[in-house]
Amino acid sequence: MATMRTLAPSGRRLTATSRVGFDTLPDQYVNREQQRGFRFNIACIGETAIGKSALLDSLFDTDFEQKPHNHDEEPHVEHSCKVVSEGGVDLQLTITCSVGYGDQIDRTDTYKPLLDYVDAQFEEYLQEELKMNRQLHSYTDTRVHACLFLVSPTGTCLKSMDLVALKKLCDKVNVIVVIAKADTITKSELERFKQTLREEFAANGLQLFQPEVDTNQYPLAVVGSQEKVVIGGESVRVRQYPWGIVEVENDDHSDFLRLRNLLLRTHLEVLRLSTHTTFYERYRQRRLVDLGFAPSGRHTSTSGADGDAEDVPESLTEVYEQKRRQYKELMARKEQQLKEQFMQKVNEKEGEIRKIEKELRGKRDELVNIHRSEEAKIKAALQALARDRAAWQAECEARRKEEMSKDSKKKDK
Ligand code: GTP
Repeated sequence: MATMRTLAPSGRRLTATSRVGFDTLPDQYVNREQQRGFRFNIACIGETAIGKSALLDSLFDTDFEQKPHNHDEEPHVEHSCKVVSEGGVDLQLTITCSVGYGDQIDRTDTYKPLLDYVDAQFEEYLQEELKMNRQLHSYTDTRVHACLFLVSPTGTCLKSMDLVALKKLCDKVNVIVVIAKADTITKSELERFKQTLREEFAANGLQLFQPEVDTNQYPLAVVGSQEKVVIGGESVRVRQYPWGIVEVENDDHSDFLRLRNLLLRTHLEVLRLSTHTTFYERYRQRRLVDLGFAPSGRHTSTSGADGDAEDVPESLTEVYEQKRRQYKELMARKEQQLKEQFMQKVNEKEGEIRKIEKELRGKRDELVNIHRSEEAKIKAALQALARDRAAWQAECEARRKEEMSKDSKKKDK
């Protein structure tokens, strides 16, 4: 039996007297990861024309070329993929945008296409993990690492439609709530709105992604734009109004930079990691329970104390054996059912054949009787004909004889 030895907290710490080389481990790790490439999958949900495209373009300083959508479109998701490079690091981005969210008369399920998409990516990853020859090192991981949830700057409270969607999404993905079009709300209204939202999130137990920094800043309120102007020799993203301009990347104008730093500079790896360790793990456990595995710590056995407890397997072999047993039982039941159905059909057919035979026998007897009576009639007719013929022949003979005697009498005279 293998024994595991661990160092006590006061264990000896040895320092190599000459350079051994394992201090290059972090470099090796970085090289490996850089070769593998970095992926970041981000989703964005919010009502039509709330500013999703403008925000995403501003965040990655690119143009995802997303077309505006009408209010009558069926809810669905759209994707754009891009590789963005910075300092020799390539980031493969997948942007998934919800379309038609909150636009239907019945708005209850308009968040579902995005939720289904998130689940579908977990399922794909799980299926790859369960394969005999899995290729996780080269697998294109499309699991969603973060979901930007854009709420309207109403200044009042969270819309019930957003609350329902948030509750569902928080369970599956790192949700970052963002107040959109922050330039359309006054500073004091925004502060009050943020406070109201924080209270609503807490009251509804929403587990949003929120790094432990000044929580009063959250939810972040942002401005997005697809327009750039040159200010002081620098190209700057702005929204221009008759009374002045709003700079997207100006901390005094919105929390845009905070959001971008959080997403891309300080917490990108945290988001990727928690997607795997928290949300995917949660999905995996639920799916394995669906497949027949016992949730950890709930293993019971028929040989246990109460004897009649259900045997819920924990290992893949046990699950396989249990499924095989269940499958064989099912097949045996189906075979028995098929046999019974077959015998029933055979009996039915035999009954039908017996009935047809009886009918045919009856018809044959009837025909024989008809035939016999016809035969008797024909025989009687033949006999009558023979009698007539004999009488006619006798009459002819008599006439011939009479003629002959007349002729001989004439000659004698
Ligand atoms: P759909 O894809 O059609 O749902 O739209 P969207 O959510 O991607 O919104 P989009 O970015 O296309 O912006 C819609 C409108 O809102 C455009 O006229 C934008 O200029 C405007 N807009 C976007 N961001 C902001 C913002 O931060 N403030 C203000 N005031 N307007 C904005």
